[in-house]
Amino acid sequence: MARLQSQAVEQITEIVNRYKGEGTPLMMILSDIQKEYGYIPLEVQELVSSLTGIPVSEIYGVVTFYSFFSLTPKGKYVIGVCLGTACYVKGSQLVLDKFEELLSIKPGETSADGLFTLDALRCVGACAIAPAVSINGKVYPMVQVGQVESIIKEYRSKEAN
Ligand code: FES
Repeated sequence: MARLQSQAVEQITEIVNRYKGEGTPLMMILSDIQKEYGYIPLEVQELVSSLTGIPVSEIYGVVTFYSFFSLTPKGKYVIGVCLGTACYVKGSQLVLDKFEELLSIKPGETSADGLFTLDALRCVGACAIAPAVSINGKVYPMVQVGQVESIIKEYRSKEAN
């Protein structure tokens, strides 16, 4: 989506038009674009700005504030390691460190093969099964450092099949 193709311009215009009557449509517009494309680069923010009159700075502020939105394409599998208090005290930082080591990426980054994005999350509401790791919405309970390699392998083997 580096240079916006006319089809993308049309589709984003259609998304913006969906919320014409709404008083504060920005979150809904951005959510739909995120779901449709998986990320919201600057050129898309500029287009939304020109269609809505909302300043790019405001749109950029929203996109960068909420972790649901992304400025860059995410990997096929988005790994979220919870660093909320309950998970942290049960060792989730070590789990995150292991994912970083084995995937050679930091939180917020995507692996070179485009397969994995790593995110550090705040409480995901699964404190009873801390430390929690979620991958594309599937929650892994009580994850220990020793399991990280096999979790990654599980997803790599999906690609091999
Ligand atoms: S602190 Fe991790 S799920 Fe609540």
